[in-house]
Amino acid sequence: MTVVSGRTEGLQEPRAPYAGGLESLDREVELASLPVEGRIPSWLRGTLLRNGPARFEVGERGYNHWFDGLAMLHAFSLSGGEVGYRNRFVRSGSYREAEAKGRISRAEFGTDPCFGLFGRVMATFRPPVTDNANINVVRLAEGFAAMTETPLPIRFDPRTLETLGVVNYDDALKGTITTAHPHRDPETGDLYSYLTDFSLTSRYHLYRLAAGSRRRERIASMEVQRPAYMHSFAMTARDLVLAEFPLVVNPVRLLTSGEPFIRNYRWEPGRGTRFQVFDRVSGEHRGTWRGPALFAFHHINAFVDEEGAVVMDLAGYDDPRIIDFLYLESLRRGEPDFPRPTTWRIRLDPGGDGVERRVLSEQNIELPRVNESRVGRPYRYAWGTANRVRGHFTDALVKIDVTTGEASSWYREGCFPGEPVFVPRPQEKTAQGEAPAMDGGAAGSQQDAEDDGVLLSVVLDARASTSFLLVLDAATLSEEARATVPHALPLGFHGAFYGS
Ligand code: CO
Repeated sequence: MTVVSGRTEGLQEPRAPYAGGLESLDREVELASLPVEGRIPSWLRGTLLRNGPARFEVGERGYNHWFDGLAMLHAFSLSGGEVGYRNRFVRSGSYREAEAKGRISRAEFGTDPCFGLFGRVMATFRPPVTDNANINVVRLAEGFAAMTETPLPIRFDPRTLETLGVVNYDDALKGTITTAHPHRDPETGDLYSYLTDFSLTSRYHLYRLAAGSRRRERIASMEVQRPAYMHSFAMTARDLVLAEFPLVVNPVRLLTSGEPFIRNYRWEPGRGTRFQVFDRVSGEHRGTWRGPALFAFHHINAFVDEEGAVVMDLAGYDDPRIIDFLYLESLRRGEPDFPRPTTWRIRLDPGGDGVERRVLSEQNIELPRVNESRVGRPYRYAWGTANRVRGHFTDALVKIDVTTGEASSWYREGCFPGEPVFVPRPQEKTAQGEAPAMDGGAAGSQQDAEDDGVLLSVVLDARASTSFLLVLDAATLSEEARATVPHALPLGFHGAFYGS
């Protein structure tokens, strides 16, 4: 009997209860009608599109990190109380090369291809950039695109999920990495995003992409010595804010180290977090605010308060250890001290460069969403996943009233929900057939409408080895319906609902 690292061979590795959501799903299926329990609201018509990693091995080798897995799109179509489901891999360059060569062929977030010496030298000059668009789904440039953190969004058909090809932007804006979380202004429909261009002098570029356009208009650029890893950024109705967490990279190191992408970043808490604020219209750099060192993947929302200060809410961590816990080996094993995010509110002093930070709610939240009509505006509700049982990753759905910090939750033992997407109930028609005016009617009616709708979340039922689409009343988090897929779906990242 051989003993390897203190464990006896043949004994089963400890396994987290949600680990069934971290296995490869090779099947692509089309199910016309899923069994439904409860009642789907009759007004709920459209498609929930979800994105996430779904293949974690190629040939003999596995990807290292949860963020590396090959992208799969899932579509839940809702109509007349019925729910259909289909799924397809994104036929990205990463996917096609993996299929053709039978091995990992492009550099991902936490995994590099295995190069020989010659391959490594060549890769230094021309690294094979991944287009494995596994993070989000965005309506972009006359269509729908799957996105990751390289600026190579991949268009797909929202009905068939067929891959249509990389989005070709009609401009000369250059960047090495970007965010899969652009913001859409609820009034104009324009998208706002940023690029980091790694070079001898690296730069952040902020840009606007008008609805339906493929031409990105540069709003501002800023030179940066050590670019920060920023999975998302903040937008108010007036500003764009890059929160430079002190997880930073020397771009030369990125090219020459031979280490996977994220392993080149260094945690330098002494820098604090630098909030770079830009005017959304003029591009003017309003200034740099310095706050405590923290790390976050996700901003929740941001707005300008009555005193003209930028206020931003985020799901933050004291340090970036969360990235290490999301390596597949650790995540599948389950860790009792898995970091929990803190729900913070950050306010930038409008008269100086100071930063106030306070805990907005005792309730932790991840994969946060808001009513999309409130993006960049004062708002009241955030919904997201949460951790309730230590070490159980995301095992609850929560709603936080950000004006009071009060929270409510949905929890079922053995169930592991993904990001909840808010879908507003359509405005009631009046007798005249007109939608009621937003500024008329009873005082506070606009405020009350913010949580009037449903939440859609794909939930892993670990005991049954199935997944279901969960429909919750967004106001009360009471269950309205669930539609079950007959097998487990890999845990996903982000998605969007498109009405029909
Ligand atoms: Co994200």
